[in-house]
Amino acid sequence: MSLPAKKPVVLTGDRTTGPLHLGHYAGSLRTRLQLQRSHAQHLLLADTQALTDNIGDPAKVRASVIEVATDYLAAGIDPESTTICVQSQLPALAELTVLYLNMVTVARLERNPTIRQEIHSRGFGRDIPAGFLCYPVAQAADITGFRASVVPVGEDQLPLLEQTNEIVRRVNRQCGVELLPEASPVLSRTPRLPGVNGKAKMSKSLQNAITLSASDRDITEAVRRMYTDPNHLKACDPGRVEGNVVFMYLDAFDDDQETVAALKANYQRGGLGDAEVKRRLETVLKQLIGPIRERRLALAGYPDTIMDILKAGTERARVVTTETLEAVRAGFGLFRF
Ligand code: TRP
Repeated sequence: MSLPAKKPVVLTGDRTTGPLHLGHYAGSLRTRLQLQRSHAQHLLLADTQALTDNIGDPAKVRASVIEVATDYLAAGIDPESTTICVQSQLPALAELTVLYLNMVTVARLERNPTIRQEIHSRGFGRDIPAGFLCYPVAQAADITGFRASVVPVGEDQLPLLEQTNEIVRRVNRQCGVELLPEASPVLSRTPRLPGVNGKAKMSKSLQNAITLSASDRDITEAVRRMYTDPNHLKACDPGRVEGNVVFMYLDAFDDDQETVAALKANYQRGGLGDAEVKRRLETVLKQLIGPIRERRLALAGYPDTIMDILKAGTERARVVTTETLEAVRAGFGLFRF
């Protein structure tokens, strides 16, 4: 008789800076919904990380813990199979971060493409909060604290995973054993969703997002102002689908990809107007977001239940992350009473 194989461990998280949007859904949330059946999955409400660029607005960060947890549940995350936990309530992660900070140089942190991009888009210049520059180290603590080997993320997070694995190798060398597993990313079929204006990635702070709690009217308005092909003025003009946000969203969210391919061909040929493609996208998005919004509304009536789910999940996470911390402390040869 053989023992049942242990499920592979998944850890991923979201900064708690506001409600989740379609970019989160396409980039990673949809993958998480699939992984939760076959994997031991943990979702981290990353409020400490959120503070690294929101220290001026802790009330938003705190309120968003519940917001994002509600988004998870409304989107179909099952708290019976997925552990949902709160980062700031897991002190072992903070202590792992302090230990790992010795495994990385400032020069390496400054080279991280994600960090460079974020420093640029937030206009930090040289005045980067040290906590912000170091959050990739904290993220390495998040991932390894759970000894996760699978991390579903959007494309923007890949440099962070690379840095995590560098830290993993250094820690293992320091400890002289393969204490921590390396982590592999899982990318979705749309690892980077542009904003509705076609610029950059979808982001609430850039005001180009459609949230998972958007009303039908919000959806209609967002689709109406969506960037298409500026040279496609009449239906009979041949249109471009590359860089056309409406088609990128149909790629990401329309389950009937055969029809999408036919629409694209017709659009390129000059046989299809923007209005018609937009109408289809509007329907697709309303069908996706409508049920999530309904469940969100229902969940709003049970704040205590959500709090209980977070408490129970964080309690479980505390056990796992403390175990990891103890092993790393011992591996580093720290004094122990
Ligand atoms: N950096 C992620 C984001 O911007 C959030 C996050 C925190 C995370 N800890 C993580 C993602 C660990 C994956 C793994 O949303």
